Amino acid sequence: MPLGFTQQLREWFRAHARDLPWRHTRDPYAIMVSEFMLQQTQVATVIPYFKRWMQRFPTLQSLAAAHEQDVLGLWQGLGYYSRAKNLHRAAQVVGETFPDTLAEMKKLPGMGDYTAGAILTFSSNARVPIVDANIARVLARLFNFEHPIDSTAGRAKIWAYAAQLLPKEDAGEFNAALMELGALICIPRPKCDECPVNTHCLALQSGNDPAALPVKSPKAATTQKVERALHITNGDWVALVQRTQNPWLGMWILPPMMNEPDVLEMPIISHKYGITRYRVTLEIYPAKSTNAPDIRWVSANDLAALPIPSPYRRVLEALAR
Ligand code: ADE
Repeated sequence: MPLGFTQQLREWFRAHARDLPWRHTRDPYAIMVSEFMLQQTQVATVIPYFKRWMQRFPTLQSLAAAHEQDVLGLWQGLGYYSRAKNLHRAAQVVGETFPDTLAEMKKLPGMGDYTAGAILTFSSNARVPIVDANIARVLARLFNFEHPIDSTAGRAKIWAYAAQLLPKEDAGEFNAALMELGALICIPRPKCDECPVNTHCLALQSGNDPAALPVKSPKAATTQKVERALHITNGDWVALVQRTQNPWLGMWILPPMMNEPDVLEMPIISHKYGITRYRVTLEIYPAKSTNAPDIRWVSANDLAALPIPSPYRRVLEALAR
């Protein structure tokens, strides 16, 4: 890539980067928190969660010492709770100081190539490549890469492009700039007119439509399923059970309905949500009792403090109305 590319990208980044709270710190702990939150959640959603988190658990040590229920409670609404559990365990495993190599960082729970590299490059300017969805899109267009980016070979090629582009100096800023270009300009329908590096874009130069890149392998279809649960109340109290499996291991939900409902039974509420590759219809049936073991009666006042998955919390809120 010609020298001008790095320079032009940096200048654009310095003038146009969003002011995001995790860009004001070099603390690897804070950056780890932001990267775990950003793994499957949009920036705008993450910002208030990140701020609350850093007030409640300002240091690695404060998170390591926290109870899992408090950690899950603070994560509530972000979804994919294994991220919160991994973050908590990572804080406990790290001890006093963060690893300073990729290999060591990747041994921590929940830490893939991207997250380990992001923490290193953003906290200490380490010269390591990172590729997230935004950067992959930018690189596929920049290099006019016309093969699926989610195949093993395609992924390796994209990571190799990312490594090849890394400047000698200030790699952290460069990585952030590449990511920001993917977030603001080189978006699915790209704004090529506004792109600071459009003269370097091989997709544009070859006459390809950049919007047609990146190419991805055909996706596995989503599967529909129905989940049925019971609403058992006693005045202000509602019966909940604790999940003993993923998803939502350790969180509280309405007791599952064990049998198929009787033909005459009707759900009082039905709520749709998505998780991984499922579209789930959550149906709630009124009931007097359940033979589910370990029921906990929870008062309306205590619901707020319990970790409850978002779809169940929505249903409980609707039931309370
Ligand atoms: N997505 C993942 N990591 C990010 C970061 N540090 N800044 C903006 N978006 C991101």
